[in-house]
Amino acid sequence: MKLLIINGPNLNMLGIREPAIYGNNNYSHLCSMIEQACEGIDFEIYQSNHEGAIVDKIQSALGNVDGIVINPAAYTHTSVAILDALKAVAIPTVEVHISDINTREEFRKFSYVSLYAQKTIAGHGFDGYVEAIEYLRATL
Ligand code: DQA
Repeated sequence: MKLLIINGPNLNMLGIREPAIYGNNNYSHLCSMIEQACEGIDFEIYQSNHEGAIVDKIQSALGNVDGIVINPAAYTHTSVAILDALKAVAIPTVEVHISDINTREEFRKFSYVSLYAQKTIAGHGFDGYVEAIEYLRATL
């Protein structure tokens, strides 16, 4: 089994970026938590600030990856292209948000990716990634 964990724009700034919302731990800390949760299975962690690069990465998963965990960050609320890429490859996907997008600004309440994702986990901090990986391990 292989999982692909994708992080969108500004998640490389964790630890610096709005700590009251995203916490004090940095992106490397998040990657270590993901590595631990993926123990015993094949996985790749990918981060990009560019929408097209994320679309390319999702397309390249076709035939190579069994499950996707994605935090599309700001592209959650804007990207039909990322939604279409996920629908095109049709790989089981869990959407993760560190913060609770439903209790923040109005524009964060809508997620394009939710229209495809099998499950959405929001507001559980970095643990949301671990829960998403556990869900895919249990269901794939
Ligand atoms: C986020 C929530 C998004 O609204 C925001 O644009 C992000 C991070 C989260 O993990 O809580 O960049 O996806």
